[in-house]
Amino acid sequence: MPTDMVEKINSLKEKALADIQSCKDAGQLDELKIQYLGRKSELTSILRSIGSLSSEERPSIGKAASELKRILTKAIENKAELLTEDRFDRKKIDFTLPGRVPFTGSIHPLTAVMDEINDIFSRMGFTVADGPDIETDYYNFTALNTPEDHPAKDVSDTFFIEGDDILLRTQTSPVQIRTMEKTTPPVRIICPGRCYRNDTPDATHFPMFHQVEGLYVDEDVTMGDLKGVLECFARQFFDETIKLRFRPHFFPFTEPSAECDFTCVMCKGQGCNLCKHTGWLEILGCGMVDPEVFRYVNYDSERYTGFAFGMGVERLAMIRYGISDIRLFYENDMRFLSQF
Ligand code: DAH
Repeated sequence: MPTDMVEKINSLKEKALADIQSCKDAGQLDELKIQYLGRKSELTSILRSIGSLSSEERPSIGKAASELKRILTKAIENKAELLTEDRFDRKKIDFTLPGRVPFTGSIHPLTAVMDEINDIFSRMGFTVADGPDIETDYYNFTALNTPEDHPAKDVSDTFFIEGDDILLRTQTSPVQIRTMEKTTPPVRIICPGRCYRNDTPDATHFPMFHQVEGLYVDEDVTMGDLKGVLECFARQFFDETIKLRFRPHFFPFTEPSAECDFTCVMCKGQGCNLCKHTGWLEILGCGMVDPEVFRYVNYDSERYTGFAFGMGVERLAMIRYGISDIRLFYENDMRFLSQF
């Protein structure tokens, strides 16, 4: 009888160790633990029966059974460790699987459009100039020949920061003045940047937006040069078929002034919703620099002439990408931004 029991314990040991040895994963190992050491396992029932054995049998069988419990517990522990190590074993990683590509972000559509405008004008010999977002009344209005009672100076249009002198620039045109103050002609600059106006946001307005300003001053600069440069820009930014149309307008800092329309890029001039069935898109303001502006920066208006223009970046980006609401640019919705 005792030999029977010892044999039983021995064969249980052999089988259990073989099973643990060939076990492949943690789940299977958990099952083996239950099977060999659990409440309903053979070993547990042997251990429970020890008390009812005769006093001769008890010591040897008791010893063998508890020894087996120790061995199996240890073997399972070791195997568990081995399985976790295997999981991290570099030799077992499949390097032929395609990797996970991390999301690297994308260029904001407004930045992309400004970069492109910069590139086009750089190729025509313009350099990029810069100026502050916080301006004085002098640079934003006075030196640009804006009369004291001009409606743009009203608090309903302009964000004043301190009194009526320090403000958030309403246009990039003050950079014209800042550049001319420190340069002798020829001057050939563009200036992309933020502008601010006290507008209520809707599909086409936002209190902060972007403009690109252009200025070219030299001897003998004519309106013909202005038209040539803008046409060259339009064809590179949109396509070769674009035509330009100039309508007389008024800006305090240019004389004559004009608004410039491009052939509608959607319908090619046939008339559609985008161009409100006119065939034309209003794109920018421009003109010949007013001699009064030259007076503020001490340029000799008998010797020099110049042209200037200013365009809205949001408008160009909306046309380029078919975006119908300006607010989308500022909501930082990744579903929108990751498309560019
Ligand atoms: N600053 C003007 C605006 O915000 C745009 C503009 C028009 C700029 C004519 C110019 C220009 O330089 O010559 O509406």
